[in-house]
Amino acid sequence: MPAAPASALATGSYSYSQGAVDIQVRNLTRTFGRVRANDTISLSFAAGQIHGVLGENGAGKSTLMKILAGFVRRDSGEVRLNGKPVSVRSPAHALRAGIGMVYQDPLDIPAFTVLENFFCAMPRSVGPSRAAARQRLIELAEQAGFVLNPDTPTAHLTVGQRQQLEIVRLLAWGVGALILDEPTTGITASQKDALFTASDAWQPGAGR
Ligand SMILES: Nc1ncnc2c1ncn2[C@@H]1O[C@H](COP(=O)(O)OP(=O)(O)OP(=O)(O)O)[C@@H](O)[C@H]1O
Ligand SMILES: [Mg+2]
Repeated sequence: MPAAPASALATGSYSYSQGAVDIQVRNLTRTFGRVRANDTISLSFAAGQIHGVLGENGAGKSTLMKILAGFVRRDSGEVRLNGKPVSVRSPAHALRAGIGMVYQDPLDIPAFTVLENFFCAMPRSVGPSRAAARQRLIELAEQAGFVLNPDTPTAHLTVGQRQQLEIVRLLAWGVGALILDEPTTGITASQKDALFTASDAWQPGAGR
């Protein structure tokens, strides 16, 4: 399916991106009360590359990423995806535009199993059944080199496994840009290796 056209983003109609997403940010500003978390930030993330954003605590990294992922609204400035200005209104909207984010605190549901968490946020392209979801989950986890048992309660997972579940959920949507906020905090050395190997091998848009 072709990249979501700007008109689809504007109307919120259902459309999926395919392939890597080039992100440009111009003069982005967001304040929380008196705190200017992002102050006229301009930068570009070229498609198909791994970028790191560094800064001290409170520098505004998470705020910037949450704006790109539709979790926080910007006050002013512009975001362009593949050259087209977009107003990312929500995480679902960002996902349809091809941007997925793994938050510092994963957004899974602890009372659900791995499969149930995958199932409840699954794109329709995977199919309607639990069996299809299980198969897709196993495939995607294997491709990424992640160790995820579909039947494990999410509450029993390590931080690293919860992160892997979030990544696999986003890969199922075929995201073209994957944002990881502090991805190496609290995970084991082998999970870091798995994350870096998967990141190097990842082909944007190929998860679907
Ligand atoms: N929802 C919010 N409400 C109020 N203030 C906020 C909110 N989110 C962020 N801030 C403030 O904005 C500033 C930037 O925070 P942000 O979390 O973006 O920084 P960060 O670079 O990700 O920091 P860290 O390295 O600690 O994760 C901080 O002063 C923070 O307290
Ligand atoms: Mg942060």
